[in-house]
Amino acid sequence: MKPSLIIRIVVPALLLLCGAGVISVDASEASLQFLEKPRIFLLTGQASQYAVSVNQERELVHLWWGPRLPSADYESGAVLPSANRTGWGENPQYLEFPGWGEWRYLEPALKVRFADGVRDLRLRYASHQIDGDRLTITLKDAHYPFAVELRYRLLPQFDLLERSAVFKNTGDQPIGLEQALSAVWHLPHLQAWTMTYLAGKWGAETQLRQVGLDQGKFQIESRRGATSHQFNPWFAVSEAGRAGEEHGEVWFGALAWSGSWKIAAEINSAGRLQIAGGIHDFDFTWQLKPGERFETPVFVGGFSAEGFGAASRQLHAYQLAEVLPRPQARELRPIIYNSWYATEFNINVEQQISLAKKAKDLGVELFVMDDGWFGKRDHDRAGLGDWFPSKTKFPQGLKPLTDAVHGLGMKFGLWVEPEMVNPDSDLYRAHPDWVFHFPNRPRTEQRSQLILNFARPDVAGHIFQVLDKLLTENDIDFIKWDMNRHIMEPGWAGVPTTQPKEVWVRHTQAVYAILDRLRARHPRVLWESCSGGGGRADLGILSRTDQVWTSDNTDPLDRLLIQDGYTYAYAAKTQVAWVTDNPDGINRRDTPLAFHFHCAMMGTLGVGGNLLKWTAEEVAQTKWFLEEYKQIRPLVQEGQLYRLRPFVVPPSGGFGDNGFWAYEYVSPDRTRAVLFAFLRSSQLGNDLPAIRLRGLKPEAGYQVEVRQPGSAQPPTAVQTLSGATLMERGMTLRMRGDYLSALVRIAEAK
Ligand code: GLA
Repeated sequence: MKPSLIIRIVVPALLLLCGAGVISVDASEASLQFLEKPRIFLLTGQASQYAVSVNQERELVHLWWGPRLPSADYESGAVLPSANRTGWGENPQYLEFPGWGEWRYLEPALKVRFADGVRDLRLRYASHQIDGDRLTITLKDAHYPFAVELRYRLLPQFDLLERSAVFKNTGDQPIGLEQALSAVWHLPHLQAWTMTYLAGKWGAETQLRQVGLDQGKFQIESRRGATSHQFNPWFAVSEAGRAGEEHGEVWFGALAWSGSWKIAAEINSAGRLQIAGGIHDFDFTWQLKPGERFETPVFVGGFSAEGFGAASRQLHAYQLAEVLPRPQARELRPIIYNSWYATEFNINVEQQISLAKKAKDLGVELFVMDDGWFGKRDHDRAGLGDWFPSKTKFPQGLKPLTDAVHGLGMKFGLWVEPEMVNPDSDLYRAHPDWVFHFPNRPRTEQRSQLILNFARPDVAGHIFQVLDKLLTENDIDFIKWDMNRHIMEPGWAGVPTTQPKEVWVRHTQAVYAILDRLRARHPRVLWESCSGGGGRADLGILSRTDQVWTSDNTDPLDRLLIQDGYTYAYAAKTQVAWVTDNPDGINRRDTPLAFHFHCAMMGTLGVGGNLLKWTAEEVAQTKWFLEEYKQIRPLVQEGQLYRLRPFVVPPSGGFGDNGFWAYEYVSPDRTRAVLFAFLRSSQLGNDLPAIRLRGLKPEAGYQVEVRQPGSAQPPTAVQTLSGATLMERGMTLRMRGDYLSALVRIAEAK
């Protein structure tokens, strides 16, 4: 083993201490340390700590994840795994990365099959390496030539820990992986747990749900080869009744994977909770040939001692600083106009140019032509796969339109759905074997489309070339990558018999590889992830695309609920919201334009209505809102979000429909903030409760402006108040009527 190490992660500096038996640990610093004598790895964040140790049998056992503990208690051996090897029960040692074997009954992280048929893992500590903020611990099987590299990256400023694993076949026989998760998180031994998660369906994504955990397993998952609308790969757990938006301990995590996945929360018979997650083991096996390795996606985990609000802000800051693709990560997202809801498939070059002119007049910065521009795409039954401009709609190609849009001073964007093919397309007629299908079985269509099998290098190679050509030959600044159906019948024509169940993972890997290559070759292009709305929103895709189309549902009341849930896991900047024609969305609800805009302004704003039909009054108001958005955009996209009155108030669970919602975005230096408030209906003449702001400087004076649409109108109710008063006494908004909203700007008085 190496000598004791203390590696500094953030200021102030800690010195590297070496030498036998030197265990001088100052746990007041955020750091990544190896304590030699107790053989403990200690990963300390600003408010959190994570610890694992190597026991007598050289197993790697989990010690602690939660608030920071004094280092002396680790050195004295007081912090122990909570059961010993001879105890009864499942997983007595709480193995840090449990392989299936020995007396493991709970969900394992890893299950393998060796060439001789043995399916029993005995992983033992072999070595470790500390490199800056990264720790790698290598485990080896006690007998077979198989190694596991556990990778940790400490992000102390966010109290987050990235975990992933690499599996290596170091022998000369193949090894089968039958389950290959990213991590198992072990939680402290508390009385009762509540799990918070995101669930939904098409048009109703990312709704916050809560469930009380008990002995047994509660699993959220996707078996669809995509992230899914049904569940999102994010979780939070808290002691039942002990955590809320602004208080209490919350442990949380999110998976960076856009294929099939699972997160399984399991309480064993001893009352201990573990949360296992990663690539789904359902219909999964992977053959590791001699010398090969398999790398899992990252499962990031975090701890907040200040409730769900702080947990979200930790994730948001992490995404902006570490996840979103560079160089655009810290650039402000442009205001989009997207023509889909205005025109659907019925498009042509003149009409798109007319829309672009209208959009420019409103203040739009990026004009996006959605579906319908390519092949024989006159409806949703034809054309997918033929990614060249329609000869009838764009007889001179895209250039007249891209030139016109650029000439107007806007960026130009295009919609594609690269994984899909309609049977009625030139591509499918030429390559019917390229789609997922089983022989002797029908090829089930959804929206008249089948899915190209990107696990095949020839298929993925073709799509890369087509997209690369599209981006090379046209002046395109933005691509919306859609995936309107998910995988079923995952048959893979011509696959070697050892590999058929690798198809799910290989498809997702190929999507990532295509995006990575295209980003490298066309670095200024912005990307949006879409899957029939928000069916592909996760940290994996968000490290390759700059934003996500949150939902096809643009009804503002529904959107408030969807966006509220989305913010628990993902930063506001990544969620795109358009204002479309009124009434719109699924409910055909008539709501004021301000209600639409205020809702959409809480993320990356877009407009998606048929501008050729908007009234002069709508146009005038829209100009005002777009101008207003440009002024508050840095706060929304880069600031800290406080859910002052969220839809669902943890830990009560359920639909917290009190009809009055408020969200605040605060600049990092706390000198500016913007508040959005929404009222469904006033009732019984009651005054609304005060909204208590957060994140301001108590001693500073702030100018408060309630903003009304209409450029001629000055802000109403301009007042100067102290941060303390705004946060303690709060603000009272006077609203009477239905579907009312307010935008309040707060700036430190000079
Ligand atoms: C999906 C997307 C929409 C639009 C259509 C086009 O439904 O979510 O935004 O792009 O496809 O067919």
